[in-house]
Amino acid sequence: MKRVDDFRLKLGKDELVPIMIGGMGVDISTAELALEAARLGGIGHISDAMVHDVSDRRFDTSFVKEKTKFYKYNINNSDKTNIKFNLEHLAEATRMHVGKTMEAKQGKGMIFVNCMEKLTMNAPKETLKVRLEAALDAGIDGITLSAGLHLGSFGLMAGHPRFREAKLGIIVSSLRALQLFLRKNAKLDRLPDYVVVEGPLAGGHLGFGDDWAEYDLQTIITEIHQWLQAEKLDIPLIAAGGIFTGSDAVSFLEHGASGVQVATRFTVTKECGLPDSVKQEYFKASEDDIEVNHISPTGYPMRMLKNTPAIGDGIRPGCESYGYLLDGNGNCAYITSYNREVALHPDAKKISVMDKTCLCTHMRNFNCWTCGQTTYRLKDTTRKLADGSYQILSAEHVFHDYQFSTDNQIALPEQAA
Ligand SMILES: Cc1cc2nc3c(=O)[nH]c(=O)nc-3n(C[C@H](O)[C@H](O)[C@H](O)COP(=O)(O)O)c2cc1C
Repeated sequence: MKRVDDFRLKLGKDELVPIMIGGMGVDISTAELALEAARLGGIGHISDAMVHDVSDRRFDTSFVKEKTKFYKYNINNSDKTNIKFNLEHLAEATRMHVGKTMEAKQGKGMIFVNCMEKLTMNAPKETLKVRLEAALDAGIDGITLSAGLHLGSFGLMAGHPRFREAKLGIIVSSLRALQLFLRKNAKLDRLPDYVVVEGPLAGGHLGFGDDWAEYDLQTIITEIHQWLQAEKLDIPLIAAGGIFTGSDAVSFLEHGASGVQVATRFTVTKECGLPDSVKQEYFKASEDDIEVNHISPTGYPMRMLKNTPAIGDGIRPGCESYGYLLDGNGNCAYITSYNREVALHPDAKKISVMDKTCLCTHMRNFNCWTCGQTTYRLKDTTRKLADGSYQILSAEHVFHDYQFSTDNQIALPEQAA
């Protein structure tokens, strides 16, 4: 019986354990988690979402404080057009986050950065270019472009000296999205080094609508794989979404995928950035506790736990400090919803906003509990402790379980002392 370790992911000349830990912003896929994946011979992702805040936490910088001070005058103004990111600060924060992570890298694996196009930062092109180029400057092994179509992203970094050397990949959920990307980028003569095919069971934002349950990852992979073969395009496919055991992974590796991207099982590891109390919420969840909703201002459906504190919260938009979802004209769907509720309840001390959430503030505070569909199975991957809580795992344990297990087995951790 095959196990994941019988396969290798070939990216150019490099051969890796075909396990990628997916990017999870904001700092849920921490540098520590990504470094473990690299040390073990696979690929780990950090995320550049809200990188100023991540830098402030990791390196004691004060990017967010400075921005808040600069735009303090605007806090009670519902118009956010003037809120802009200082591009030098953005580059500096990205270089710190990426550079310090790369300095700490050990082992034969790689570290990529997950870059979400939907973080439009009130100047989509300018800020994205800075993010991509600063990550390349700081020596990142690769960039995974996610959440958005990214039709122009390769072009934005085409002038960078590392454009053809670093591994560049995209996340798609359909053959059509991949075809569109390849067509739009044909003139650059630079194919993606890998394509993550994300199915409907993934965590975070989804590339599907409310009919997500009608789609199936293996069917999408097969369709893309056959098309690539017909076009004589040799691009490794990485299967993502709902791959819970080593055997699940082997099944994809035997049917068109060259690697897997996994995330949910690592949300309950000690290296994951979620607070321990939130990890316990993930362990406790049952299938009925998970939903796909539309509260993300990005316009993409998002999967999360139903008891997520962000749902219904009516906090004042935090754009003077954050503003990562401002669309380029100072708009964010949460601001519109918030302003509507304020106008409807002029005397209320506290308002509730049900249809959208202030994603920046809530992700930053780990109050938006986005998760994969298989989260309800996490309790079966560990031991219950005497106090009723669940034992937190190590990233190494989960990685090795994917790498070496057979027969849909899940290895439990050694009993905590
Ligand atoms: C908590 C959480 C946060 C996530 N955040 C992001 C993100 O910021 N960007 C992204 O491209 N994908 C994100 N994802 C998707 C993962 O990178 C990955 O592709 C997917 O969840 C894999 O499926 P699995 O969770 O069933 O293993 C997130 C997933 C989880 C569970």
